[in-house]
Amino acid sequence: MSSNQIISPVHVEKLVFSGKGLARAEDGRAIMISGGVIPGQTVSVRVLKTRKGHIEAQVLEVLEHSPLEQPLPAHFQVYGGCKWLPIRYEDQLRIKDEQVKECFSGLASRGLVSPEVWHPIVASPEIYGYRNKLEFSFGKYISAKEEIHDDFRFGFHKQGEFDRIIDCDFCVLASDSVNEIFLEVNKHARASGIPTYDPKTAKGTWRHLVVRESKSTGKKMLVYSLNTKDPNFDRAIFDTVWQALALRDDIVTQVLFHNSGLADIVTGEAEILHGSGIIQENLLGRTFEIRPKSFFQTNTVGAEVLYSTVLNLVKSSGGTLLDLYAGTGTIGILLASHFDQVYSVEIVADSSADASVNAWLNKVSNFEAVQVPVEKFLKDFIDRGNQADTLIIDPPRDGMHPSAPPNILAFWAREIIYVSCNPSTLVRDLDVFLADGKYRLTDVVPVDMFPHTHHIETVARLELVTK
Ligand SMILES: C[S@@+](CC[C@H](N)C(=O)[O-])C[C@H]1O[C@@H](n2cnc3c(N)ncnc32)[C@H](O)[C@@H]1O
Repeated sequence: MSSNQIISPVHVEKLVFSGKGLARAEDGRAIMISGGVIPGQTVSVRVLKTRKGHIEAQVLEVLEHSPLEQPLPAHFQVYGGCKWLPIRYEDQLRIKDEQVKECFSGLASRGLVSPEVWHPIVASPEIYGYRNKLEFSFGKYISAKEEIHDDFRFGFHKQGEFDRIIDCDFCVLASDSVNEIFLEVNKHARASGIPTYDPKTAKGTWRHLVVRESKSTGKKMLVYSLNTKDPNFDRAIFDTVWQALALRDDIVTQVLFHNSGLADIVTGEAEILHGSGIIQENLLGRTFEIRPKSFFQTNTVGAEVLYSTVLNLVKSSGGTLLDLYAGTGTIGILLASHFDQVYSVEIVADSSADASVNAWLNKVSNFEAVQVPVEKFLKDFIDRGNQADTLIIDPPRDGMHPSAPPNILAFWAREIIYVSCNPSTLVRDLDVFLADGKYRLTDVVPVDMFPHTHHIETVARLELVTK
């Protein structure tokens, strides 16, 4: 089988954790299909790469629909960020639950996962309009093959293509007012005559728009990421755009990132256009400040469910709590009253600064925000002879740095709660904690924070067995 070869028909058996579909080629090899297929569909695919044990392919066409698919209302569009939209929500939950269990099967086969650890998957309280942060891209869509030449597009990247943007009219994951703002920015940006950024030539200006929304107050922050170094950029015209948006009562602050970097990310020197450059969110009775670059869980009511799950799993109290990969300090602040001292460890300066302010806002005084990589913090903490009693670990998708788990074992902490957005790295890290029998896995709770995507959170609790 060679690259670009078309295979058809192919029956999608199931989804694996990365969101790819799994099918079988005639020779029995696995075909991993990207591009957003649904189990039960019959599709045609194009081979991308042939690997030793499997084939990587991209879906071309859906030949037969799956019984899992439901008809969508006319204004619902499926974009890269909501590929599971056609799957009934109960089925999404079942698939995610099965995927988490499958990731744990290796540990289970070694007797490390007793059946009682499993809790039923927790659903997101809201399944539409739940996101409090949306990132939209500006760009072009130029394709001779498709006979399209459009210099101004505003929406989302075409699946797997860095230089083509698909227009968006309505995003089901955004609230109605964010959809409204999106259309307003679109209107003004198009009328401005300022060109979109072209990643191939590094020319043009409009790059990204991030909208952050406080779900508790409805207030919003707009963050523009623009290549202001482009010689044709007209600052006076851009000023009329953000000033028009500032007339809305719900937009309380706007920030401009001067972004001339080559990477397709929202970054650059920040200039506050109006307001304080900060919005506040209320969650489980606490107030949290969020700056443009701070990490904050993107589903506010889902985060309440996730954090409540964590709070319910913490059985110990007193002594020192380490909140590792702490973001804006949310979990440490919610748990602070149960402990003598909390260290909130986070690498990103904006988030860590927010954690300090958030502790102060919530009158939490036994709290120290430390801006340093977790792996470095752990080593220094141990070298200084410190001890930790309870640990919260909530790393990004790649899991912990390999040097971190062995240092954590040196603490003899009585309890570890691991919150993960990637069950495969969760299981990899748990394996280190469980290997020598020092810890026992007592609970695993899958929590769905991201309806209509393949993403899933999992909370696991470990208990110290011996000392
Ligand atoms: C999944 S988020 C969790 C944040 C927080 N616990 C919450 O619920 O909002 C992971 C956080 O880890 C931070 N991070 C990534 N690598 C890190 C490292 N090596 N050391 C410390 N923090 C890190 C990220 O900036 C991000 O804020």
